[in-house]
Amino acid sequence: MDAISINNVTKSFKIFAERTATLKDRIINRRKNKYQKFTALENISLTIQQGQTVGFLGRNGSGKSTLLKLLTGILYPDSGEIEVKGKVSSLLELGAGFHPDFTGKENIFMNAAILGLTKKEIKKKLNEIISFSELKEYIDNPVRNYSSGMYMRLAFSVAIMVEPDVLLIDEVLAVGDAAFQQKCMDQLLKMKAKGTTIVFVSHDLGAMEKLCDRVVWISKGIVRSDGEPKKVIDQYLAHLANEENKRLIDESLVNSRINEQVNESVENEETTRSIDNKDPGRWGNQYVQIDNVYFTDYNHQSKFSFLADEQMIIKIRYKGNKEVENPIFGIAIHTIDHIHCYGTNTFIDYFKINRIKEQEEGTINFKIPTLNLCSGTYLVTAAVHDEHGNQFDFHDKKFSFMITSLTKDVGIVKVPHTWEQNV
Ligand SMILES: Nc1ncnc2c1ncn2[C@@H]1O[C@H](COP(=O)(O)OP(=O)(O)O)[C@@H](O)[C@H]1O
Ligand SMILES: [Mg+2]
Repeated sequence: MDAISINNVTKSFKIFAERTATLKDRIINRRKNKYQKFTALENISLTIQQGQTVGFLGRNGSGKSTLLKLLTGILYPDSGEIEVKGKVSSLLELGAGFHPDFTGKENIFMNAAILGLTKKEIKKKLNEIISFSELKEYIDNPVRNYSSGMYMRLAFSVAIMVEPDVLLIDEVLAVGDAAFQQKCMDQLLKMKAKGTTIVFVSHDLGAMEKLCDRVVWISKGIVRSDGEPKKVIDQYLAHLANEENKRLIDESLVNSRINEQVNESVENEETTRSIDNKDPGRWGNQYVQIDNVYFTDYNHQSKFSFLADEQMIIKIRYKGNKEVENPIFGIAIHTIDHIHCYGTNTFIDYFKINRIKEQEEGTINFKIPTLNLCSGTYLVTAAVHDEHGNQFDFHDKKFSFMITSLTKDVGIVKVPHTWEQNV
């Protein structure tokens, strides 16, 4: 049975042109209420089955809160139909539905009454609500004096204790402290097990994956994807990473051009043997020169942001200025605070490069099947030298990429693992 059905719903807002500055202008322009129409949701159709837990995902301004408000009946659609079956309880914007001058307790009565409980029912549940909110000492203070975290505790406690059939939660849980967030999550899992239909908006993708049976990605007022949580979340993260890539490519950070290419000819040993004074992070005699280092996926598409379990190729573009035998290419990966995570070279890995000729141009690919790094920005060093360690060209932490991760594990390396319990 469907608990929620949304059929071809469109919702737009009127955005009024900036108010005219003077009273005279206002009087003259009184009848010219100029506005633009902004479509926040366009032809949305969704059905949510009873007992399903669905996450709404999307960037700020994509229309998630608008959709929740339509479901609670705070807003009405321009066109289309919405049907929600059973008792609906919602946790929307912080403090919505609270009266600042009333105490916490008075607000519990008001809120629970709005949600359809009788005074007797509320009295029966009062202690449970106060106890869950952990606000006992503050419950007789006006909520005006509550912090945003305390507001959230109170609102969440009321919203769940009225035992709704449908629970709608906008991204308010984030304001709670870690312990309370965990408690909310446990409570939501309990309600889910009892068969409550839950719609959950959050930027905590890990929590979303854990809680939801299904995730809907809303982008600019339309449903962009809808299905299995991990799949939709991955699509969303890949999209974000891709947008970030585009932005960075625009800023020409991806093909992090090496600013001052050394143009001096190799004949002039004096100048080329010296360390490049202009750039303390680069040195070497330039017999072989590294022109560019960049990062791609296995389809050779340039990227800057990668998912933790993604593949990557580090591409080292080189040019020979003088014929050299058996050159060795190396790379190293560092965290942003310069912790050396990994380093290797073609010699260590028995990858033999016989000779680079003068004027030869080419690419060395360092292929990584799974990055296995935790989220963060990483710096890459690339170098080419001879068998005796004489540097041709060394670029110290000159290149960077970013890892975004679904999970909240911490550190540098994602150690492949499973958990087990033996009693
Ligand atoms: N009352 C309103 N008046 C005008 N524009 C609004 C109003 N409410 C929301 N919007 C606009 O609708 C879009 C979607 O907003 P919202 O549903 O809050 O997005 P989300 O919750 O996904 O961040 C935004 O561009 C927002 O500015
Ligand atoms: Mg919102």
